[in-house]
Amino acid sequence: MPGWLRPDGLRPDEVKTVVAYVRSLAPVKPEPDPRPARWVMGDTQAGRRIFEATCSGCHGAQGKGGEGPALNNKGLHAGATDTYFVETISRGRRGTAMAAFLKPSPVRPTLTRDDVQSVVAYLRTLEGGNQ
Ligand code: HEC
Repeated sequence: MPGWLRPDGLRPDEVKTVVAYVRSLAPVKPEPDPRPARWVMGDTQAGRRIFEATCSGCHGAQGKGGEGPALNNKGLHAGATDTYFVETISRGRRGTAMAAFLKPSPVRPTLTRDDVQSVVAYLRTLEGGNQ
């Protein structure tokens, strides 16, 4: 995914228009999130072990990226709340290789809510890794 805001790309007002359109595609209006942007209190060491066993095959060592997008870049961490990470990992992304890790599966590990929070705590340690 290249950055689209650039001299030969989109103007800031065009970016806002696209964002508004993408938001309009949601079938239900999202609930406001009452939590602070960073609320996860997971165990980073446990999170690292889970990440290396379960996620790094797609997201690369230290989240540097691979089949799945890099998870170590500042832009992502600046914009993504802990709730965004927890929900993405728990529910997955329909139509992509990103699975819903709270859902039991015979072909990959299932995570508990505590595991998900530990992985998110570990992801936050990767924040400054790139760009
Ligand atoms: C089989 C490959 C695969 C595995 C295993 C996998 N992911 Fe993903 N992940 C993806 C792909 C592909 C995407 C991009 C989905 C999209 O286009 O929306 C993604 C997206 C994400 C995102 C959203 C990134 C963003 O920029 O919004 C997060 C966070 C994430 N994965 C975390 C994890 C974690 C944590 C694990 C391990 C528990 C994991 N993933 C395991 C393939 C994988």
